[in-house]
Amino acid sequence: MTATGTGADPESLRRRALDALTVARDRTALLTSCVEDGELTAQHSPLMSPLVWDLAHIGNQEEQWLWRAVAGREALRPEIDSLYDAFQHPRASRPSLPLLAPGEARAYAADVRTRVLDVLESTPLEGRPLVDAGFAFGMIAQHEQQHDETMLITHQLRKGPAALTAPRRRSCGPVHCPPKSSSPGPVHHGDLGRAVGPGQRTAGARPGRPRLPHRHHPVTNGSYLAFMADGGYTDRRWWRPEGWAQIREHGIGAPLFWRRDGGQWLRRRFGVTEPVPEEEPVLHVSWYEADAYARWAGRRLPTEAEWEKAARHDPVSGRSRRYPWGDADPGPEHANLGQRHLRPAPAGSYPAGASPLGVRQLIGDVWEWTASDFLPYPGFTPFPYKEYSEVFFGPEHKVLRGGSFAVDPVACRGTFRNWDLPVRRQIFSGFRTARTAELD
Ligand SMILES: [Fe+2]
Repeated sequence: MTATGTGADPESLRRRALDALTVARDRTALLTSCVEDGELTAQHSPLMSPLVWDLAHIGNQEEQWLWRAVAGREALRPEIDSLYDAFQHPRASRPSLPLLAPGEARAYAADVRTRVLDVLESTPLEGRPLVDAGFAFGMIAQHEQQHDETMLITHQLRKGPAALTAPRRRSCGPVHCPPKSSSPGPVHHGDLGRAVGPGQRTAGARPGRPRLPHRHHPVTNGSYLAFMADGGYTDRRWWRPEGWAQIREHGIGAPLFWRRDGGQWLRRRFGVTEPVPEEEPVLHVSWYEADAYARWAGRRLPTEAEWEKAARHDPVSGRSRRYPWGDADPGPEHANLGQRHLRPAPAGSYPAGASPLGVRQLIGDVWEWTASDFLPYPGFTPFPYKEYSEVFFGPEHKVLRGGSFAVDPVACRGTFRNWDLPVRRQIFSGFRTARTAELD
């Protein structure tokens, strides 16, 4: 990972690292100050940590990598390392640990950050793989941003009135907290195929079935509603046996956070209940739901390699781009990233972010389930630590690509591999479909 860039002079590397760390910390501060401290220590779902665990874990990882490993300094709080080791304590058990209280966790993370900024000033950013081109600083900024996405998932699972608001697309203002009298702290702030053909296609044109337009964008709520209206959740033909078992066992008949009110489907999004917007990409579906939809539509999920080819291949030069639109860093015109809007943009948005073949919204909006298991590439070696991904390799995890509206640009690129269990629905997951192209 070279989140701080390569080939730049030391001062610009430092500035980029500082910016990335600051943006991440501003986001963390927002997510942990929008609710009362009691909500930071509560567990909103057994799938998630209390928010206060994420907060101190962010500080602890920063201490371990930048203060200890990079700067070679003595541990500040060695006695808390094990509390914040994600592999020692499953999320469901974390509320019972003797965690730092919210005020202590904030003070600890801030103390580490102050020291780390001095380290950034004084450390040569070359000569060791851990620091070359600012690697470890970018890694830690990315780590914090990944926890910021995790914390946003916790916010989505949290019950109660809205604590976060954001402008809809085309207004690029920051996310902010509604006014609160006792704020505890400062607020800083498709269509994929093996060969992708142009234009619009139709699928699912059997008698009695709605004709579904498949354009070059993720599957929308409107299309997903057609699957539901056609009995998609009650027809075993479309489901893998494990997926069928899951929906029967848990009574699943719609994406997570949806409920039916008379003739209308509503969804809850960060404390606000609203009609399901048909034009938005579907969100909060499991891999099994995505797979079943694709089969019903006469299509399939793309493989990881197909997804990456659609996202990076430049048919004119034959080379791979960093992003669908080229090598430029993601800007607000390219993709819905960085928790700016707290929702996916309508399908077909972001024309400036389209690939050369016109595929849209590959980056941002929703994480996209692929057909592929999470396996190492040939020649893979872990760096700098195995627990980042190696321990998750295997057929039990499926790969997601592209990044959601909750992902920061520092943690997002055309090559980034995310993974999760195929039953997971609380993540910001959607999908697009593919078919082995008979070109039409
Ligand atoms: Fe972590």
